[in-house]
Amino acid sequence: MLLARRYLVTAPGLISLVRRGRGYCWTRAGGMGSHPKLAKRALETETPVMVEIQKLMRGTKDAISLAQGVVYWQPPEEALQKVKDLVWDPSISRYGADEGLPELRQALIDKLQRENNLNKSSVMVTAGANQAFVNLVLMLCDPGDSVVMFAPYYFNAYMSFQMTGITNILVGPTDPNTLQPDAEWLEKTLSNNPVPKLVTVVNPGNPSGAYIPETLLQKISDLCKRAGSWLVIDNTYEYFMYDGLKHSCIEDNHIVNVFSFSKAYGMMGWRVGYIAYPEAVDGFAAQLLKVQDNIPICASIIGQRLALHSLEVGPEWIRERVQDLVKNRELLVKALSPLGQDAVRGGEGAIYLWAKLPDKFSDDYQVVKWLVRKHHVVLIPGAASGCPGHIRISFGGLKEADCEVAAYRLRKGLEELVRDGMVE
Ligand SMILES: Cc1ncc(COP(=O)(O)O)c(C=O)c1O
Repeated sequence: MLLARRYLVTAPGLISLVRRGRGYCWTRAGGMGSHPKLAKRALETETPVMVEIQKLMRGTKDAISLAQGVVYWQPPEEALQKVKDLVWDPSISRYGADEGLPELRQALIDKLQRENNLNKSSVMVTAGANQAFVNLVLMLCDPGDSVVMFAPYYFNAYMSFQMTGITNILVGPTDPNTLQPDAEWLEKTLSNNPVPKLVTVVNPGNPSGAYIPETLLQKISDLCKRAGSWLVIDNTYEYFMYDGLKHSCIEDNHIVNVFSFSKAYGMMGWRVGYIAYPEAVDGFAAQLLKVQDNIPICASIIGQRLALHSLEVGPEWIRERVQDLVKNRELLVKALSPLGQDAVRGGEGAIYLWAKLPDKFSDDYQVVKWLVRKHHVVLIPGAASGCPGHIRISFGGLKEADCEVAAYRLRKGLEELVRDGMVE
């Protein structure tokens, strides 16, 4: 896997984009007005790819999105009905406990035991899994520490490291076929001095949709334990598994698991996620609370109530919807066929396929822009995940009929790309 990153845009006014290290960042060019400098931690953080993609979409009438990592469904109806009646309850408008509503935390501890075989974990409820991850980076890493992730990586995790002062992000390779993390590379890297403070994986993966079997997860965990590194596992797509594959979690005193309600229960805008952390580690809860109290104080109370009522509906509700996504995945695998049989990878889990563009199209951002302009279909450039020359295709956000339209446009666009290039 090639390790580099490049997606960008023109910025208005004072700010210009410069190449720095492996990526591009906004920097102040000077000029109009006078004011203090903006923080390097922000300027040197990558530009969020989703924001750029949304701009692209806004500029194109009738564009259909295979870009954003979303699902097309709404939360369970009975859960929505229950929170509808709650809005007048004064407790909804007050702050709640930093770590989450006690009833929700208890329900999550039960769920972790019942479904994830996590029996020694405490829970903090957060405003989504992204905030959970930032909390963890802030409490587990110091500026200047090194951390490990694997390409193609989840772009927001990369940005969380950058903006919290972690400049030494070691990006490891994945197997070119399975897209699973390379454990041999990890073993070597964890023998560095100083030892990387934290290793993170997403299972199943964003942007690849590749899943990490339990044996490999355990091996990664053993290596981290031996080296004295934290292992943070993002299980946002725990229910999104296909073809009989099973997601599994592991626990130990050096492991932290992150979860989200966003995709499973169609609750993206309600902002609820949670951290399952080892209760036996002294001081973990106390340090985590400091970060939480200074970012959201607590996750939205009505969001937590909806999460609680959604949990009551249970995982079968999710699995039925997830199984329906198989048809979307099939449609899009076919649509990607102009790229050649070996070009398409991943998709065993999550809501993503990952594809390699022909060698001469190493500028994936240009290809994505061309596909939007000419064929009105939107994807994510692989450079945003450290792998230029690739594209991420999301199959969760559209109902089957809309997905058929998107697949038709994508196929037509890719056929043209391969045959004639990016002709306007
Ligand atoms: C791997 C991964 N982690 C975290 C998130 C963010 O989830 P949340 O909405 O819970 O913040 C996403 C969303 O796309 C994701 O793909």
